[in-house]
Amino acid sequence: METIARLHLDTFELTLRDIKEIDPAQLHALSVAVRWPHRETDWQMLLELGQGVAAVDEIGRVVGTVMWLRYEPDFAMVCMLITLPRLQEQGAGRWLMDKAHELNRGAAFGLTATREARRLYRSLGYGYEQKILRCQGEAAPEAPGPAGVLRSNRFEGVVRAAVAGDHESLIRLDRLAIGHDRSRVFQSLLPVSRGYVLVRNGEIVAFALCRPFGRGHVIGPVVAATEEDAIAVSRPHVEAHAGHFLRADTPACNVAYTHFLTANGMQIHDSATSMRLGQAPYMPAVPGGPRRIALASQALG
Ligand SMILES: CC(C)(COP(=O)(O)OP(=O)(O)OC[C@H]1O[C@@H](n2cnc3c(N)ncnc32)[C@H](O)[C@@H]1OP(=O)(O)O)[C@@H](O)C(=O)NCCC(=O)NCCS
Repeated sequence: METIARLHLDTFELTLRDIKEIDPAQLHALSVAVRWPHRETDWQMLLELGQGVAAVDEIGRVVGTVMWLRYEPDFAMVCMLITLPRLQEQGAGRWLMDKAHELNRGAAFGLTATREARRLYRSLGYGYEQKILRCQGEAAPEAPGPAGVLRSNRFEGVVRAAVAGDHESLIRLDRLAIGHDRSRVFQSLLPVSRGYVLVRNGEIVAFALCRPFGRGHVIGPVVAATEEDAIAVSRPHVEAHAGHFLRADTPACNVAYTHFLTANGMQIHDSATSMRLGQAPYMPAVPGGPRRIALASQALG
């Protein structure tokens, strides 16, 4: 991508560059400056999957970014909108979003907004809001019941570790839940994730992946038709990470799943808002069918 625009901000002159030309260490430094937990490897995964632009000042410092992932030819997931704190509230964020829209003309957009960014997105026309809870903390699996009685398992079927032969089923369930084909996202997630699936009547009906992210591990994506099924496939991840930092981002409507997370050491730390422009929100393809119980990440949705 050639240099495509300039913006004068205060005493700065910003130039837009293709984000793939930028050293990931500089991108990481920018996300650290806004206290985001991403590791350099988290950036690298997004750089492999998506595109974006970076605003660079006269001496080559990266002061802003925005990225997008084209899940479909007519749908882009926007993420990693960041401006350096000393430049904020001067129009750089809006400028970067305008560029993202311009470079994806004709597409509908989705994103997960932080509280700071929600007003900006609303003013750009984003709507269909869905509250997302970020639950995180040291995983502390619930103790078994008295006298060795196990917690009641309210799901039917068998939970087992996911194997390579399951991958097509996971992608199919995800597509039913999200409404987009995220095969490429799964190609990146699967090699770095552990997964559990719930098998009922010989068919995979729910799954939960878990991978290193930020300060520890993140559980996600989790797709299931019911919260009980989602809990069944998430519980082994919580048990595997007992005593370690674990995070999951879940739509607030998942009351039972949120309760499961908080009862297992992950408190509600913050909230974000899933938003859309030009297209209705995530809807399960089949009413009552598989849906998004935990996000892959805020960036990936
Ligand atoms: C969100 C963020 C990108 C906005 O960047 P920015 O350069 O300040 O954006 P702009 O100057 O173009 O401001 C855009 C609008 O948001 C408003 N805004 C900016 N910061 C805000 C804040 N902290 N709280 C409330 N509103 C804010 C501005 O007032 C402006 O509104 P207006 O056009 O109605 O006046 C920036 O604050 C940031 O990097 N935050 C940390 C990372 C983050 O949360 N990114 C969003 C990911 S979804």
